[in-house]
Amino acid sequence: GLPDFSQAVVIGTGYGAAVTALRLGEAGIPTVMLEMGQLWDTPSADGSVFSPMLSPDKRSMWLKDRSEMPLASFLWFDINRNIERYTGVLDRVRYGDMSVYLGRGVGGGSLVNGAMAVTPRRSYFEEILPDVDAGEMYGTYFPRANAELGVNEIDRDWFEDCDAYQYARLSRKHAEKAGYRTTFVPSVYDFDYMRREEAGEVPRSALDSEVIFGNNHGKRSLDKTYLAAALGTGNVTIKTLQEVRDIRRAADGTYRLTVRELDETGGTVARREMGARHLFLGAGSIGSTELLVRARDTGTLPGLGEEIGRGWGPNGNVMLGRANHMWNLTGSLQSGMPALGIDAWDDPAHPVFAEIAPMPAGIELWASLYLAITKNPARGHFTYDAASDSAKLQWTAEQGQASIDAAKVHFDRINGVNNTVYRHDLFGDTRAFENRFTYHPLGGVVLGEATDLYGRVKGYDNLYVTDGALIPGSTGVNPFVTITALAERNVDRVLAADIRR
Ligand code: FDA
Repeated sequence: GLPDFSQAVVIGTGYGAAVTALRLGEAGIPTVMLEMGQLWDTPSADGSVFSPMLSPDKRSMWLKDRSEMPLASFLWFDINRNIERYTGVLDRVRYGDMSVYLGRGVGGGSLVNGAMAVTPRRSYFEEILPDVDAGEMYGTYFPRANAELGVNEIDRDWFEDCDAYQYARLSRKHAEKAGYRTTFVPSVYDFDYMRREEAGEVPRSALDSEVIFGNNHGKRSLDKTYLAAALGTGNVTIKTLQEVRDIRRAADGTYRLTVRELDETGGTVARREMGARHLFLGAGSIGSTELLVRARDTGTLPGLGEEIGRGWGPNGNVMLGRANHMWNLTGSLQSGMPALGIDAWDDPAHPVFAEIAPMPAGIELWASLYLAITKNPARGHFTYDAASDSAKLQWTAEQGQASIDAAKVHFDRINGVNNTVYRHDLFGDTRAFENRFTYHPLGGVVLGEATDLYGRVKGYDNLYVTDGALIPGSTGVNPFVTITALAERNVDRVLAADIRR
């Protein structure tokens, strides 16, 4: 069950939520976290907590009848399989021309992501959030976020001769031949653990292809970092399989939530009400935006403004593959955790940061895969759909074209110099570039637009957004370090000015 009231309620358990709960707990504030997904700590009959990557079972996906891998095919064979509907760990939310991959469970996206922990370039951070004091961010909050998240770097000597990164070394060679610079990508996957995996000393996870359906070992997901620390304060509790549906304000100024308890097939066990004095939305760009769009347009929080639901972007994500020559092996063993990126962000016309992604299929595929992050100014917005009682993203394929154009400039050059071609069999049809899904949804409740400069929602006291919804559609790198650092900054201010007052 749920308590009837808590001084603070945090919705979600992803990055923004976890930071907020830890700092509230440390300050002695009783805090309840409401998470729609499960706690992932109990092994199933196969001895593992998470589904195997290459033979997904019901644990892999959130309430789907079939797995939905980002690569739909190899040589046009569908690689997905039928599964039982279950409250699994990876969701894919579809909106017309764009679908969004999300983590569900205690830890949110940290359970399923590639662990790449990248601090954005300061000049770009200043461009996207010009009213945030960058000196303070780079002096205090980015270092704090990196330390709490347990960010580490790969041992360069090991990288140069291990089998698991042959795919990355080959892509580096091809990029450098075309005049590009590559850079090592920090990670929250424990690289010492990975070395012991290779040595056969511990159970394999990254070296057993695990990533998007959860890592059974090695990854410092939020349940092992921020959330463990939050629980350790003794002031924070986490309630799972609790989906917040509606938010309204009581006459005394506190918030009342309608919360749906789910069973493991997505059915409704109960609907309950819970109150909070301070309400923190950490349900992610999609989740937090939907809650506020619904509250505004159904009239439960009628004072919310037009900026709610605006400024959304996919962080310019484009995925592509290149076909390698027969003699250029990428290796049948590929670490699921990327470690290297091609940094062309300084290109004035087409800034691109392209992570060299694994294709951990367990067999040689003669292919190199990339997730390119591009600088695309197009933004989508959300509208409320009464029939489905949900928020719908308005985004068209044409809005993503600039991202493809930018990636193409650089990968055409890499292909040209190396005499290679694109793969056309990876995305379900014959396209070479895939920009119809994102791993990096950002925006919807943008900092300084829909909220003040610390995430306080405009029009309401004691109502805050803490997560990726605050970031205006782009960070130029993988986003979780930015989300974490911004949440650290905002909660510092809110604790000092609003709660301890
Ligand atoms: P996040 O999405 O993490 O958490 C939101 C939580 O709220 C979820 O647990 C959700 O279940 C819950 N929730 C939503 N609505 C709710 C409701 N109404 N009631 C209750 N609970 C609700 N980033 C990066 O920096 N490096 C990387 O390598 C990658 N790789 C990557 C791979 C894949 C496959 C994905 C899907 C994503 C990534 N990312 C990534 C992106 C990164 O994971 C993402 O940016 C963050 O998790 C976003 O953090 P938030 O705090 O915004 O929310």
